Amino acid sequence: MTDLLLDVRELSVSLAGRGAGATLVDGVSFSVAAGEVVCIVGESGCGKTVTARSIIGLNRTDPNFELSGNVAFRGQNLLELDEESMRRLRGGSIAMIFQDPMSSLNPLQRIGAQIDEALSIHTQLDRTARRRRTLELLAEVGIPSPDTRIDDYPHQFSGGMRQRAMIALALAGNPALLIADEPTTALDVTMQKQILLLIKRLRAEYAMAVIFITHDLGVVAEIADRVLVMYAGRCVESGPVRDVLRAPQHPYTARLLASIPAANRVKTRRLPTIKGATPMLADGRPKGCAFRPRCDFAFEQCSDEPPLAPLEDGAHLSRCWLVPSVERSPADLKIVEVLQ
Ligand SMILES: Nc1ncnc2c1ncn2[C@@H]1O[C@H](COP(=O)(O)OP(=O)(O)OP(=O)(O)O)[C@@H](O)[C@H]1O
Ligand SMILES: [Mg+2]
Repeated sequence: MTDLLLDVRELSVSLAGRGAGATLVDGVSFSVAAGEVVCIVGESGCGKTVTARSIIGLNRTDPNFELSGNVAFRGQNLLELDEESMRRLRGGSIAMIFQDPMSSLNPLQRIGAQIDEALSIHTQLDRTARRRRTLELLAEVGIPSPDTRIDDYPHQFSGGMRQRAMIALALAGNPALLIADEPTTALDVTMQKQILLLIKRLRAEYAMAVIFITHDLGVVAEIADRVLVMYAGRCVESGPVRDVLRAPQHPYTARLLASIPAANRVKTRRLPTIKGATPMLADGRPKGCAFRPRCDFAFEQCSDEPPLAPLEDGAHLSRCWLVPSVERSPADLKIVEVLQ
């Protein structure tokens, strides 16, 4: 791959101490090229956040977690990096934004001062230049009249504005990789769209790679170059976004697609949901394919775990004994409209 930025190989995260033995993330591998947007998608509890936090080194000092594998950022294994170097990298070359902006913003410190602090850590700018850059960043993310808002506290901002301020803070270190963990989930639809457009624009402007975590394949269709579908701590399908969304190979991906709301769907109609629930990984991994109890296509062979196997072109992988592609319902085809 050209310009490989991040290469995650066989990342596993298990619980240590209380609940020991449960593997929350199990042998996940994927890579991100410079400037590329990779979406990680899957239902609640499938291990998206644990994966992201492990990449950025937030889990490795936690005695509750045991990590293994390799997370190479520009060729350097982050799992082995000393804490001081990791701290410098975090908020600098790699930044993370969250669903809840208050997990990044300090409620007691003015917005401008927080961005100024990040700039003073990660850039050589002097005080005047930092003030100018802070105003620029606030304007860049769409905060109206930055010069009157720069000294506001987070509580003086609306939810959408706080989300924007958190993005400005993340951009302060000029990251090569932005990890966005469901940054639009708590927002209303209009604001969601605006934030997505903002991230798309910033990605182009800053040539920044993005790992975008979501449970919404509609968002994936909007923003991703490639997609990684996770189920019960494992990758069940991955590949270029068009291949995965147009011809999903794993029944789980196909079911997720069927739950995308059509643009013209009447509000009161309930979205289709996937029968059953995700397995509780704390109880140990079920034998065989973890999706088997919820799968419409399950057969005897599924009591053995299928490998993550490439299709003909090699870029599209699926962990299912069923090949070729799973039949798709007319609702699934809605996604094709988004892609065109
Ligand atoms: N600190 C922790 N201690 C014990 N279990 C944890 C911890 N953090 C996460 N888990 C478990 O790990 C699994 C994966 O959690 P994770 O937060 O990564 O899910 P997710 O895919 O991000 O879900 P969501 O869409 O709800 O954010 C879940 O079963 C969760 O209960
Ligand atoms: Mg999460």
